[in-house]
Amino acid sequence: MMTSKPNTVAPNVDTNGKDFSFDRIEGFDEHIALSVPAYKDIQRAVRGIVSYFLDQQGSVVYDLGCSTGETLRRLAERFGADHHYVGFDISQNLLPARSEPPITYHCQDITQPGIFMTGRVNVIISLFTLQFLSIEARPKVLKAAYDALKPNGALIVTEKVYLPMGLFQEIFTFSHYDMKAEHFTHDQILEKQFVLRQIMKPLSEAENLQMFYAAGFTKVETFYQNLNFKGWLCVK
Ligand SMILES: C[S@@+](CC[C@H](N)C(=O)[O-])C[C@H]1O[C@@H](n2cnc3c(N)ncnc32)[C@H](O)[C@@H]1O
Repeated sequence: MMTSKPNTVAPNVDTNGKDFSFDRIEGFDEHIALSVPAYKDIQRAVRGIVSYFLDQQGSVVYDLGCSTGETLRRLAERFGADHHYVGFDISQNLLPARSEPPITYHCQDITQPGIFMTGRVNVIISLFTLQFLSIEARPKVLKAAYDALKPNGALIVTEKVYLPMGLFQEIFTFSHYDMKAEHFTHDQILEKQFVLRQIMKPLSEAENLQMFYAAGFTKVETFYQNLNFKGWLCVK
């Protein structure tokens, strides 16, 4: 456990939340690892899952909302430069300054049409990104992801979810705050909560599953759950 509580919650965010931008979260990778339960386990699981969907060489892996590119860098370290790793993110200042083979970064709004290749991608990863898109945009992005994948390609999604039963929603929400309080001050936790409520719109698991099936995926399985955080593997 850390001995001090770093000021990484949302620096430069005014308390009205109007100024929030991912661009201004300092220490982003540390911040997300301290905020999402068992985040490193998710990363480990993603690498394991990806290994089942790569060809011997020339595979393509997309990361939607790749932030600093950490997920892709770890994948490139593990699976090597015979594959292509492509990250998309709308936040210029989070993305690495330049692409470096085998990783290419695109500063791109993924809700825009026509940005993915069709039928050529082995794996698409979306870790805690859909929840920041408008609810109307999500089905279109998922359909574009489905179309981008090769047959038998995989979509790996994690999201924060609302639980259908109030009892569990309450227990899991406050258990998450307890977890965060080991690293952040109570003010930081509340300020972040205030900011996020304006830009992050989680759905229930049922609503997410409905969108995966509507996009065309017929094989879907949970690979991760910790409190309100959930991950699914969807196979084309
Ligand atoms: C919670 S972060 C995801 C973190 C990253 N996937 C990870 O696991 O470390 C959400 C990311 O989605 C990006 N994002 C939000 N809306 C986007 C959009 N319309 N197009 C592309 N990226 C977007 C944000 O800039 C941010 O980097």
